[in-house]
Amino acid sequence: MSLHTLSANFQSLEEYPFTRLNNLLAPVTPRANEAPILMSVGEPQHEPPVFMADVIARNSHLWNRYPAMAGTPALRSTVAKWLTYRYKLPTGMIDPERNVIALSGTKEGLYMVASLVVPDTKAGKRPVALMPNPYYLVYSGGAHMAGAETMPLDATAETGFLPDLDSIPDDVLARTALFYLCTPANPQGACADLAYYRKLIGLARRYDFVLAVDECYSEIYDRVAPVGGLEACAAMGGDLSNVLVFHSLSKRSNAAGLRIGFVAGDPDLLAKFGRLRSYGGAQVPLPLQEAAVALWQDEAHVEANRALYRRKFDICEEILKGRFGFYRPAGGFFLWLDVGDGEAASLKLWRDTGLRSLPGPYIGRANAQGVNPGQRYIRLAIVHDDDTVAAGMRRLLNVL
Ligand SMILES: Cc1ncc(COP(=O)(O)O)c(C=O)c1O
Repeated sequence: MSLHTLSANFQSLEEYPFTRLNNLLAPVTPRANEAPILMSVGEPQHEPPVFMADVIARNSHLWNRYPAMAGTPALRSTVAKWLTYRYKLPTGMIDPERNVIALSGTKEGLYMVASLVVPDTKAGKRPVALMPNPYYLVYSGGAHMAGAETMPLDATAETGFLPDLDSIPDDVLARTALFYLCTPANPQGACADLAYYRKLIGLARRYDFVLAVDECYSEIYDRVAPVGGLEACAAMGGDLSNVLVFHSLSKRSNAAGLRIGFVAGDPDLLAKFGRLRSYGGAQVPLPLQEAAVALWQDEAHVEANRALYRRKFDICEEILKGRFGFYRPAGGFFLWLDVGDGEAASLKLWRDTGLRSLPGPYIGRANAQGVNPGQRYIRLAIVHDDDTVAAGMRRLLNVL
């Protein structure tokens, strides 16, 4: 098929960062004798709890059934209870039927929400989707394919690694249809506090755009449980309008392969999202929904998981001793290191030591001044066991 018969938006879709990384590293054979260490992908390597497989096996009689698209009543009410517990919400604020929809992983929901909420025009012009810069590329991909102008907002050390809300011009806010916020942020680990949420939710309502909060790292935190979007809505009086939060079992329960997440929030938007998903959404198989119920009912495995990450940040802190701008992120499981030139460092690390990292520029975009805020950085996912993470840090110190 020739390219001109494909969707115009597709033709200008950015290349996915891992494709770019493969293009960069595939021609290079590492010189090191040691086994490669792959810290480029945020794929949990800790085990999911043992009971997960038991629950799936016990429910194997359900594989023949088409699952309800929005999730079973048991899953939705478990999620509502978990949200209420986790974010100290008033009882009854989250109605399982109106405020929760199951997703086949947050990725599909984050992608598809754009095709629901991006209109043809906003304020008489092309609608805008705002997102942090650097960003998870699914935000820009979903918004771009839905016809929005994607506008990443620099989230740098100077702005506390979150977008500076005061710097967004009024005319941009007027055109904004969708704002993706990632907290804890991938890659920098910054978490929005209540004041930040208040300001952003206030803007969403004033300018009538949808705030999609990606909270998929919410349970991987260092000391303090990050504030959530629904918690902020509760603090602002309980209205959920314009706000959707996205959660996942991929990081919380080391179950990325299970493909389970949910979206919760604004009941009016969710009713419409449910309708759209009846066409294009992916149902979660029933045995897996049963596993999800068990996983969201158990906090012991989540606390144990957090402790493993905490110890690995201790190890990195001890070995790096503040070099490459090391800081201990409030959440998530990434190191975001200032190495001067992210792409060159990534290539050198692979060639000389077999350590695979993600160049920061691949998940950022040049701003109006021509500066890509990820340019100087690499991202390392500290998902492996302690010894492997320590070995990765030593390789880094040896060559950079
Ligand atoms: C920031 C962010 N959001 C969403 C996802 C998608 O997670 P899942 O689809 O596994 O729930 C990821 C996965 O890496 C991520 O890093």
